[in-house]
Amino acid sequence: MDLNVAITGRRAVREYTAQAVDELSIHALIDAAVQAPSAVNQQPWTFTVVREQSMLDQISREAEFHVLANMPPNLQSDHFRSRLTDPGFLIFYHAPVLISISAGAQGPWIVEDGALAAENLMLAAHAAGLGTCWTGFAQSFLNTSNGKNMLGIPPAWVPVAPIIVGYPKAPPPPAPRNEPQIRWVG
Ligand SMILES: Cc1cc2nc3c(=O)[nH]c(=O)nc-3n(C[C@H](O)[C@H](O)[C@H](O)COP(=O)(O)O)c2cc1C
Repeated sequence: MDLNVAITGRRAVREYTAQAVDELSIHALIDAAVQAPSAVNQQPWTFTVVREQSMLDQISREAEFHVLANMPPNLQSDHFRSRLTDPGFLIFYHAPVLISISAGAQGPWIVEDGALAAENLMLAAHAAGLGTCWTGFAQSFLNTSNGKNMLGIPPAWVPVAPIIVGYPKAPPPPAPRNEPQIRWVG
């Protein structure tokens, strides 16, 4: 797929078919992720793949409780609260796969490195006909000791980017973009 087509065509996918994603395809996404640049080429990323639906639903529920219990009271949280308390809502949208990118090393740029790997992964997924969504709602829970236990990762690792993956039910409509603010200063 042409790079520009991939960049402009990728969307956050929130409805998935039940079709499983095979292991080779998951490997291909991770191979794309690790081509990302990283500070001093540290490559701090690690990938935890969850495919068991009951486990995905359990993490999703625990993450919902965690977000609701720790949400500061403000206008935006009212919107999130009503979404998270909707009985039909699941943070992972019943996607068949979670690829949680975590930093397995310390350093000042581990979050940036993980995010760059995540974008590569999401673009490669789109080019392969797969959908993805970064599920920020899961992040704070995955960073607790309980969350890390559920992922089976060491306490020192830092979950940075939980990306759900699966086959989209339908192509989502494009999310609007603002005009970029550009200042030419020299
Ligand atoms: C850091 C981050 C966290 C996100 N968290 C969520 C989330 O928890 N749930 C969700 O449905 N989408 C989440 N998204 C997806 C954004 O809502 C989506 O990228 C944005 O609305 C733009 O739409 P597009 O990706 O289709 O262009 C997240 C995206 C990023 C980059």
